[in-house]
Amino acid sequence: MRPLLDAGPELGGAEHRLIAEAVNAFCGLQLGSATRFLMQRRLRERLEALSLPDFAAYYRYLRYDRSGADEMERAVEILTTNETYFFREDYQLRAFVGEVLPSLANDRALREQRRLTIWSAGCSTGEEAYTLAMLIDDSGLFADWDVRIIGSDISRRVIERAREGIYGPSSFRAMPPQYLHYFEEASRGRQVNARVRAMCHFGHLNLLDVDRAAVVGRVHTVFCRNVLIYFDEESRRRVIESFYERLLPGGTLLLGHSESLLNLSTRFELLHLSTDMVYRRPSASLPRRRREER
Ligand SMILES: C[S@@+](CC[C@H](N)C(=O)[O-])C[C@H]1O[C@@H](n2cnc3c(N)ncnc32)[C@H](O)[C@@H]1O
Repeated sequence: MRPLLDAGPELGGAEHRLIAEAVNAFCGLQLGSATRFLMQRRLRERLEALSLPDFAAYYRYLRYDRSGADEMERAVEILTTNETYFFREDYQLRAFVGEVLPSLANDRALREQRRLTIWSAGCSTGEEAYTLAMLIDDSGLFADWDVRIIGSDISRRVIERAREGIYGPSSFRAMPPQYLHYFEEASRGRQVNARVRAMCHFGHLNLLDVDRAAVVGRVHTVFCRNVLIYFDEESRRRVIESFYERLLPGGTLLLGHSESLLNLSTRFELLHLSTDMVYRRPSASLPRRRREER
């Protein structure tokens, strides 16, 4: 049995910097010096599982072992925050339902294609993607359209859970009761019903792998909330650029409330809605002068 005060291997400043740099280069996470003890605590289980004596050996394993790439994925799973729940940041969802969705539904070209694609980038266990699917279904604006919500995350574990769509009480903490009819009772909680599950497609994707992001295709709206706050500025810029490339002209990007493009110069324009601000890829049809005035 482990002693109560188990010291275990210590993560020194130099090893912390090396591991943090390797993690940052892999996925954009910024792990400043304040994270040293948290990383020490969380990664000790990996040293134990791999029978490694200290963090210097763990760093060498990450960098040079044949299984280093797989181990990096495991380390990132342990170091990231997967906190999420249904109907998170509802003021933003109100703007989505009240203004973004109607303008998409009224777009002449879209009405002809009858296809709508939304990307939940960094979807964790899927609550955000399913929330968007429920809101779209409930709006009644897209009946008989081909609606796809794509959820992606760097963690394979959360993607498995998202596909399953079974949730316990903490996921429902902000859920308005009128949407509960989209769920069925399951042995381990409530499961999203088959109709809403069929609208959502989940896959593994590292957002920093901007070339692979092309698998998502072109989308009308990107939700990326509570993901980029953990990134360094350069990684944020790269990911935002790849969102721009994925968005169709006129498409919108919704970030979390503490995330903004304030310090990043980007090609997005800011759009003020009644309850929120969103970023928009300028529409090709917008006159040049009006775009420059913004
Ligand atoms: C705090 S959760 C946010 C979930 C949801 N968007 C929300 O707002 O409730 C952040 C998610 O971003 C994912 N993530 C972190 N870095 C990532 C990366 N480089 N690529 C893809 N997903 C990443 C994490 O695995 C985690 O599941």
